[in-house]
Amino acid sequence: MLSKKRKILVTYALPYANGPLHLGHLAGFVQTDIWVRFQKMRTADCLFICGCDGHGTPIMIQAEKLGLSPEKLIEQFRAEHLQDIKGFLIEVDNYHTTHSSENQALVMTIFKRHLEKGNINKRTIKQAYDPEKQMFLPDRYIKGECPRCGAPDQYGDNCEVCGATYTPIELKNPYSTLSGAKPIEKESEHYFFKLQNFSALLHDWTRNGHLQPQVTKKLDEWFKVGLQDWDISRDAPYFGFKIPGEENKYFYCWLDAPVGYIASFQNYAATHSQYDFSSYWEKSNKTELYHFIGKDILYFHTLFWPAVLNGADLRTPTAIFCHGFLTIDGHKMSKSRGTYIKARTYLEHLPPEYFRYYLATKFNDQIEDMDVNFEDFTQRINADLVGKFVNIASRCASFIQKNFDGKLAKQMSKPALYESFVKEGDSIADKYEARDFNQAMRQIMALADRANQYIDECKPWAMIKNPELQQETHAVCTLGLNLFRLLAIYLKPVLPAIALKVEAFLNVAPFTWADKNKPLLKQAIQVFQPLTLRLEKTQIDAMKHAAAQDH
Ligand code: 2FM
Ligand code: ZN
Repeated sequence: MLSKKRKILVTYALPYANGPLHLGHLAGFVQTDIWVRFQKMRTADCLFICGCDGHGTPIMIQAEKLGLSPEKLIEQFRAEHLQDIKGFLIEVDNYHTTHSSENQALVMTIFKRHLEKGNINKRTIKQAYDPEKQMFLPDRYIKGECPRCGAPDQYGDNCEVCGATYTPIELKNPYSTLSGAKPIEKESEHYFFKLQNFSALLHDWTRNGHLQPQVTKKLDEWFKVGLQDWDISRDAPYFGFKIPGEENKYFYCWLDAPVGYIASFQNYAATHSQYDFSSYWEKSNKTELYHFIGKDILYFHTLFWPAVLNGADLRTPTAIFCHGFLTIDGHKMSKSRGTYIKARTYLEHLPPEYFRYYLATKFNDQIEDMDVNFEDFTQRINADLVGKFVNIASRCASFIQKNFDGKLAKQMSKPALYESFVKEGDSIADKYEARDFNQAMRQIMALADRANQYIDECKPWAMIKNPELQQETHAVCTLGLNLFRLLAIYLKPVLPAIALKVEAFLNVAPFTWADKNKPLLKQAIQVFQPLTLRLEKTQIDAMKHAAAQDH
């Protein structure tokens, strides 16, 4: 029976278009990209959709600061983000924007459907207002003295000095960070999404294999507190989509941000007709939908989003894959500590695949934070990629060139060893599928150790000197290169550029996962070129130095 091709749609959280991407963003992109590339190698029809998140107060304020229109600002950052993403070899199929006609039309349809079903109502609330700037103030734009210890210039949610948590109303001598004025309280009518209407659905959905167990546990805390109505409107001035029938009200950016996933899909589908809306987004769909996100935006993706989709008669996600934060040398990324590294700064000093590989050795399916320790980073790259993986090829290739006319032998010296490497490919695949990349990397490097050990035992450099062992040497080096080829196949989701060089070296078409099953024999190969260089501490130092100058 023919097995059916999987149809998979994957997204990564849409970054805000008001600043450059940093290594934290890229960690999430890398995790997603490794998974997507793996699916593509297994011949799944896997689409990776993303884009920039272009709405909200911070975007409006930033544009004002720079003297640009918000449209111009988000277009500039969209282009810059895309360049960085590509620099890290992220193969995203579409990078659209939430500020698009597709998104606007979708948001209107979704809003209307919920309105008709009674899932949205209006009521008047009081909020902090800046009388000088004449706008309502999101919490992050209010500072004041800590109500507990009196420390000045603390944000409206917690004190960085004593650790107290509170609401902005409790701050002493509060002021607007935009104008310095004292905020007043002002009434305004808002639209609320009644999340409670979906409590049965959500209770079920969050427990039925769509979420990591750790995430379900976290959600239980929220369920206990009770699902709260969600304010989905904002008063002007705001940058977003206008609410129909209102003069001065806009949809809150978090309503239209995830809808941006659908919009980006639609934008792509407009020129790729095999991707039809109903197969991917209607309730009767037969496709898979995965959202990769960071743990800070769990609530939006695991509660609001399934409810918004379901109530609008759209499908819910197959799963949400949540990851932890990236720390740098044991610290949160922070500008003042010098641990804030922009994606661009990294790329100006180091190859993208070092970051991809190092992260692959860290990623699992948990939501704990991951540390990039640059000493460990250097050691990993040099020990694993240079010392283990590439070394196999450099030890075998020159004999094939010099002594055997650049051609692989008709047979390998020890086919059973090759077969055992092939067999492990299945469990490596399972680990990729389960996002246990660290386990996959371990297993691959253990195979690399075995391959090197085999070459050590055979000593082709000594064998070649014995005229009676020519054929055997040829068979040993052919096995060595075939083992190397298997490792390159297994590492391809993580190291796509190196895999490309290996394909060129071996004169073969782009690797698919199934290529592992058949060895490469008799084939003429190219002269071996070094695939990657040792990483020196000076390179890391230069990158860190540049990062410290960045702000
Ligand atoms: O937290 C953020 O960076 C948001 N811009 C993520 C949006 S994800 C999706 F919903 F669009
Ligand atoms: Zn305090």
